[in-house]
Amino acid sequence: MKFFSIHHCVLIFLTLIFTTAPASADVTIWGRLHQPVTLTCKHDCAPRVAKWNDLKTRSVFAQCDETSCSSYKEGYKMSHDQYVKGDLSLTITAADYSKRNRYACECGAIDYSIQRLRIATVFSAVQMRPDEDLLLDLSVPEPVKVFYRSSDSADDELICNVTQSSAQCSSKYTSRTSLHHPQLTLRGVTSSDSGTYTIQNTEYNEDIHVYNVSVTGLSKGMITLIVLLLLLLLLVISGIIIYGCIIYMKLKRRMKEVKRIINQIESVNKYTAEGQREIKKLIESRGED
Ligand SMILES: *[C@@H]1O[C@H](CO)[C@@H](O)[C@H](O)[C@H]1NC(C)=O
Ligand SMILES: *[C@@H]1O[C@H](CO)[C@@H](O)[C@H](O)[C@H]1NC(C)=O
Repeated sequence: MKFFSIHHCVLIFLTLIFTTAPASADVTIWGRLHQPVTLTCKHDCAPRVAKWNDLKTRSVFAQCDETSCSSYKEGYKMSHDQYVKGDLSLTITAADYSKRNRYACECGAIDYSIQRLRIATVFSAVQMRPDEDLLLDLSVPEPVKVFYRSSDSADDELICNVTQSSAQCSSKYTSRTSLHHPQLTLRGVTSSDSGTYTIQNTEYNEDIHVYNVSVTGLSKGMITLIVLLLLLLLLVISGIIIYGCIIYMKLKRRMKEVKRIINQIESVNKYTAEGQREIKKLIESRGED
């Protein structure tokens, strides 16, 4: 009898530890922005009510009972097929920053799992031309730090501390930055602004967004200047061509005139020569007389 009860005790203890152990520490789940993410919770709850709620406010996202599952907020789903098999997982259809909560998986007023959803760093590559404005999306409502690291440096430089209402930037950046939350603008970039810009959550030091910025090519001003110069060159060349044509036409007309005059002179010469010959003949005939 004694042995039997110890055996029972151990069984109950093991059962408590391995199948029904209430949650002790948070599990961190990394979701990708706008992608679905699943918070897993394995517990044989049926036929009791199983629910996922906000650990702080206890407002319910979704729940299942013997007959069905229902969602209380859009974008959260539990599956009844899984619930009856002891799987209480919650599917978040599209993770975003507003869903970064601590979630509790509850069955019969006991939390079996507590999970904190975080959003993985977003990377973007940005190709820019000189003089353009760099727009950094801060994405989140909480205070952030903005770091810059130039392409040839290994160190991040803290360039701005930003809250919803103000941006405090280092003196090098103050005159070039403006805040329209959630957007921070860096005006008139040059090739020396190339590098990575990191938006980091101040409270948790989480990288929210990393921009890989490359500033290359000619600025709009330079392109306009080059186009103007080309137009000017075109104008000069067409001027020269038109002038050349006019000169050519004039010369051609002159040549025609000269030719005509030469012809006239030639014909006059012919007559003169004939006249001279005639006179010669006349003189000769007089001499014979
Ligand atoms: C941002 O805040 C930190 C302290 O929180 C401070 O050390 C740093 O100088 C601030 N940077 C700017 C650019 O204001
Ligand atoms: C940024 O992009 C360039 C090419 O566009 C690449 O060579 C470089 O490795 C990238 N840097 C980071 C930190 O991703």
